[in-house]
This record gives sequence, C-alpha cells and structure tokens, in this order.
Amino acid sequence: MPKPVSIPRRAFLQASSAAAWTIAAAPSVLRACTAEQELHVAVVGVNGMGWSDLSQVGSHAKVKFVGFCDIDTQRFDLVDKAFPGVKHFADYRLMLSELADKVDAVIVSTPDHMHAPAAMMAMGMGKHIYCQKPLTHTVWEARQMRLLAQKKNLTTQMGNQIHSAKEYRLGVKLIQDGAIGKIKEVHSWIGVQGRQYCKRTDRPESAPVPNHVQWDLWLGAAPERPFAPDIYHPFKWRDWQDFGSGALGDFGCHILDPVFSALLLTAPTSLVAQNDGTTNEVWPGPETITYLFPPTKYTIDSPIQVVWRDGGLKPPRELAQLPEGVELPGGGSLFIGETGTMVLPHVGMPSLYEANKAKNVPLPQIAGTNHWHDWVDAVIAGKKTTDGFEYAGPLTETVQLGNIAARLPGKTLQWDAAKLALAGDPAAAALLSKSYRKGFDVPAVV
Ligand SMILES: NC(=O)c1ccc[n+]([C@@H]2O[C@H](COP(=O)([O-])OP(=O)(O)OC[C@H]3O[C@@H](n4cnc5c(N)ncnc54)[C@H](O)[C@@H]3O)[C@@H](O)[C@H]2O)c1
Repeated sequence: MPKPVSIPRRAFLQASSAAAWTIAAAPSVLRACTAEQELHVAVVGVNGMGWSDLSQVGSHAKVKFVGFCDIDTQRFDLVDKAFPGVKHFADYRLMLSELADKVDAVIVSTPDHMHAPAAMMAMGMGKHIYCQKPLTHTVWEARQMRLLAQKKNLTTQMGNQIHSAKEYRLGVKLIQDGAIGKIKEVHSWIGVQGRQYCKRTDRPESAPVPNHVQWDLWLGAAPERPFAPDIYHPFKWRDWQDFGSGALGDFGCHILDPVFSALLLTAPTSLVAQNDGTTNEVWPGPETITYLFPPTKYTIDSPIQVVWRDGGLKPPRELAQLPEGVELPGGGSLFIGETGTMVLPHVGMPSLYEANKAKNVPLPQIAGTNHWHDWVDAVIAGKKTTDGFEYAGPLTETVQLGNIAARLPGKTLQWDAAKLALAGDPAAAALLSKSYRKGFDVPAVV
C-alpha cells in the first residue's frame, strides 16, 4: 500500500516562512505505526460539513483522530464531546508540521478557497486526503491536486458523498445499460442561486474581529479584507468570489457527478454562460451554462450538450416527455436519450419516460455504500476510490470553468484540457488561476 510520509518540522518552518515549499523538495519519513493497525486522521475545519465528514470517518472502527484544526475556538464543542482529548490547532500548517510523523490522512472541510492550500501541503507530505467539494477554488488548482495525488500515489476522495448513494449509482447504471438508448443531451439544475445568502453585491463596513475567530487564518490564501459579522464566516462565504464558488460550485460537483460518471465525460471543448451580469465581488444570480463535450460510447456520435441552470431556472418541461401531473424536481438532471428520457432528482430515485408515459423497465436493485468509509477502507488497503482526484479533478475543472464563463457572460470559451488553456482569450485565461497571500501558496506540480 502507499506509505504515509512526512516532512521534518524544521524543514517545514524554513520552507513555509519563505512561503516557498515545493513539491519536489519535500523529504519523507515513514510513520512507525502502520495504517493496517489504525488510521491516524487529522481534520482541517471541524464544524459545518467538517463535522459531518469527521463523524462519518470517525465511525469507522480503524480511525483514530490525532489533530483537530479550526480557526474559531467556538466551533470545537461538537468534536470535543464526540472525540475528547484530541489536540486543537488554529493553523493547519502548524498542525501538519507538528503531527507530521503521527498523521496518515487528512480531511479538508474548510471554505473552498482553502481546500488546495491545505490539501496540497498535506499531499506534499504524503498524506491521503478526503477533501470537500468543489475540490478546489480554481481550474488550475484542480489540475495540481490531481497531478500531486497521482505523483505521490495517494488515496483520495472528494466529498460529494451522493456519488456513492444508491440513487445516483442506479441512475448511472440505467444510462450505461442503455435504458433510454444513447444520450443526445443533458440538462442539470438547482433552485439555489449564486448570491443566495448575503443578499448584497458590495462589501460591508468593517467590524472588530471577535476573540474566538482568527480572521487572518480564515482569510488564508485570499486577499486581505476586513472582518464583517454574518457576511463571510461561517457558511455565507459561498456568495463571494474570493472564497466560494456560487451555486454552480456548491451543487455542480454533486449534480453533474452522475452525468460525468454515466457518460464517461472528462472535459468540455467549449462553454458559454448567460446571466444578468455580475460584479467582481459576488457570484451572479440565476444563470445558464452551456457546455459541449466530445461524444463517448454512451452518447450519440456528435458533440453532446450539457446545460447547467440555477437560481430557479429549469429546462423546458416538454423536453422531459413527462406524463400529465408529473413535474420536474427542484434540482437534478434530465437525460435525453434516443428512446426516452431519465429524470434523476438531487437526491432521489431515477424515473424513466417515453412519449409522455412512464417507461416500464424493471429497475435493477443497487445498493449504496458509505462514501467516507469507502475512502478509509481504500487508504488502509492501498487502493483507489471511485471518486479520487483523477476523477474529481476533471469534474471540478469543468465546474470552475463554468464559473469563468459566468464572469464573462455571452462569450464562448474554447477549452484545451491537455494544454490547460482557454485559447485566444486572455481575459478568460487569467481566471484559470489566482494569486495567493504570502504563506498560503499552492506550488505547481513539476
Ligand atoms: N458535501 C456536501 O454535501 C457539503 C455540504 C455543505 C458544505 N460542503 C462543503 O464543505 C466545505 C465547508 O462548508 P461549510 O458549509 O461547512 O462551511 P462553514 O463555514 O459552515 O464551516 C467551515 C468550518 O471550517 C472552519 N474553517 C474556516 N477556515 C478554516 C481554516 N483556514 N482552517 C481551519 N478551519 C477553518 C470554520 O471555522 C468552520 O468550522 C465547503 O467546501 C463546502 O462546499 C459540502
């Protein structure tokens, strides 16, 4: 199995103080205790979804937590009750360096802008990773995460847990079994919109930082800005471009996941967004992103259109061939095949239709699995998961490409995945990556 490695504390401190740790430079030391006996896990971000992640991972008999990191001292109460005695940290860099030889694997459940800085540092040290969706904040970061996981031969899993649920797995199986023939186009949608939570488009007045919050560490890689209560931390950071990824980033890695899995999609060749315009601060309101993908063995033999809608927009009902009285769900995907349609709700069992009636195909029985335990088991067995970064990376690249298009509505972008390039469009290409605040860089994988 892949062995966990670590970097010595002094080397880390020297490197991080220069804000220049590099993947190639990380020396490795093996942890004495093998993961076959007990898997030692550290967590970055222990409340919100982090609490769901760690309570699921912690319910695995072989998992032992060795470090909990959160920038808010008031957010440790749940973990302390459930897993008492685990050391607290505010800075993941110090946690990883101090526990370098005690940790096998790391859960990253911070806001989106800190996934790559934390996960890339941990992977550079040879740690296996469970990282929340969207895997990263930018397209470039998603590529680096995939490359580093591959280079270090790590067991990884993205936190779009419905990937392993029976509903999505059945949807994937039905499409691949040909229940509605080859797929001609797909429509995916969610009722949430990009600026759902703060209801504003400009920055608020600054306010004093409460004693329990380490605002500088919360900002991490993002450009400095003053604290404001009930605007960013917790949860509402989603609306802001510097921290979150809007409705598409929040739900795209869930809802487009069975589309990717079923059709074996990897990368779009072009995309274009429509919305009511946006500022440089927050994500747009209701939007449509139209992607074109190359055909695969599960699609018809011409470019396949996948349309994303959010903010209450839905595909035209008649496309679904629904019988009278049946409506499209609040979120999900509509697959249009040669011989019928399939509606896969987010989250619900798939339904098949043909010419305005339910399609009478016996649905196969398919079981779901525990997404978190699948990761733990795979780490221990030295195996890969079905939602590792080799899969989750391209899915997240697609989602975050959509967010580039959303900032340039009406412009058709041409994507060259092999070259990581948006050809002929410097304004769009500039949004593939971003700059990092000193001390929180994400190095390129060389
Ligand atoms: N898979 C799902 O169904 C699902 C659901 C909700 C959220 N998420 C994802 O989980 C992540 C967290 O979202 P959330 O809603 O829980 O956010 P949140 O703001 O409610 O919680 C984040 C937690 O991380 C802590 N934190 C923030 N920055 C940190 C840092 N630099 N170091 C350590 N701790 C830090 C916060 O104090 C908080 O406890 C996001 O990426 C989000 O997209 C996934």
